[in-house]
Amino acid sequence: MKIVRTVSELREAIAAARGAGASIALIPTMGALHEGHLSLVRAARAEHGYVVMSIFVNPTQFTEAADLAAYPRQEDRDAELAESAGVDLVFAPEAAELYPAGFATTVHVGGAITETLEGAGRGPAHFDGVATVVSKLLIAAAPDAAYFGQKDAQQVVVVRRMVADLGLPVRIVACPISRDDDGLARSSRNTRLSAEQRSKALAIPRALAEVSEAVRSGVTDATALIERGVAVLAQSGVTAEYLALVDPDTLEAVPRVTGATLCAIAARVGEVRLIDNVLLGAGPEQR
Ligand code: PAF
Repeated sequence: MKIVRTVSELREAIAAARGAGASIALIPTMGALHEGHLSLVRAARAEHGYVVMSIFVNPTQFTEAADLAAYPRQEDRDAELAESAGVDLVFAPEAAELYPAGFATTVHVGGAITETLEGAGRGPAHFDGVATVVSKLLIAAAPDAAYFGQKDAQQVVVVRRMVADLGLPVRIVACPISRDDDGLARSSRNTRLSAEQRSKALAIPRALAEVSEAVRSGVTDATALIERGVAVLAQSGVTAEYLALVDPDTLEAVPRVTGATLCAIAARVGEVRLIDNVLLGAGPEQR
């Protein structure tokens, strides 16, 4: 496995792989790799001859300086994990490679899909940062497909919109949420939870399971479903920043669950902000 730091080295390596007949997959990450990222690598590996992973802690998408400072950075370990999972090339640029002096462009995806949920909680700058860096990575690597985790469901919606609007010739693949055995969605932030906080955090998947179960048993009223989820969180002393039932494409709140509906939660446990979601009305395997 090769590690490159510049866009020109990235392009050169990808051109050679293409020249040898391989199709290209890109997995954009911020490092601190865990099993969730490795599941993206396996999905990409199954469909493409050459798998590229970017590792870049993108400063422009952090709206809290403390969160950026605390974000785990472990490049050597990440490189080992990436290689063992089957990555061919890691692109790990310095910030100045993607944001050189004088950088003045922002890719802004407008409307409800960036204003609601994470956009409301973290501010509009978050998705501007995501859209800008992802578009730069897609332009630099020009992959056939790019792989993202469904845990960041809103990010997937925003990236799909941006790719469609800019006419970027790439397929966006969303892979199922990867969970630890106890049900907690895998996240690089989980390493910052104490044992006690981790057991509190389990209220999040429990709340999603409660809402899913209620929908399966015939409850459709969004207010009633949200109350049930909030009550499960409250039993563990967790207060949701949001627990929302939204259309999975427009992210607009739905009054009733009558078809595929995204139930999304964000909650802080101690200093750690966690997100998780479940697609309702789409079969148990989607959990
Ligand atoms: O999901 C992430 O890790 C980041 O938001 C991404 C897509 C790598 C952009 O920095």
